[in-house]
Amino acid sequence: MSFDTTTLNQQMTHFDGHDSLWLFGYGSLIWKAGFDYLERRPAHIVGWARRFWQASHDHRGTPEDPGRVATLVQAPGAACHGMAYRITPRTLQPLDEREKNGYLRVVTELYFDDGGRHEGLVYIAREDNAAFAGPESEEALARRIATARGPSGANRDYLLNLAAALRELGHDDPHVFALEARLLAAE
Ligand code: SIN
Repeated sequence: MSFDTTTLNQQMTHFDGHDSLWLFGYGSLIWKAGFDYLERRPAHIVGWARRFWQASHDHRGTPEDPGRVATLVQAPGAACHGMAYRITPRTLQPLDEREKNGYLRVVTELYFDDGGRHEGLVYIAREDNAAFAGPESEEALARRIATARGPSGANRDYLLNLAAALRELGHDDPHVFALEARLLAAE
């Protein structure tokens, strides 16, 4: 699979004809929406765990010095907490552009933290995408995140902003908080 998933994502017809749809964000989409939305509600999805296993060549790193950003890996029984946004379908175009380095739109069930559920969309960079870096030790991840920087800014800020946003939502994520602790301890 090539790095650029824009074309694949724009072939998806699942929400065609809908006036609005729910999008679940678990990484930068929690703390940096950067798009218009109709409403937003804390939510989670089931069967996935957040991991900093996706290389970033375009936002938080460069092709020469890639950073690490969040993707989801399958984890039966686990819940991944984040933020759901109700958006209009035309908002998907800039999102496809933003998430083009390996992320594919996936249809999933969203569970709102205050009750209720709805079908929605999440961008996941699967293990077969070219920028998938795979498991690394927390030490190695934190070291890379501490120094990488790309057009969207320091990789460090992506991690720290995500940890702060999860804390504000009242959710623990041992992987994210362990990386944060290592990064801060090394500074
Ligand atoms: C997301 O936040 O839902 C996808 C990954 C990212 O853009 O950081």
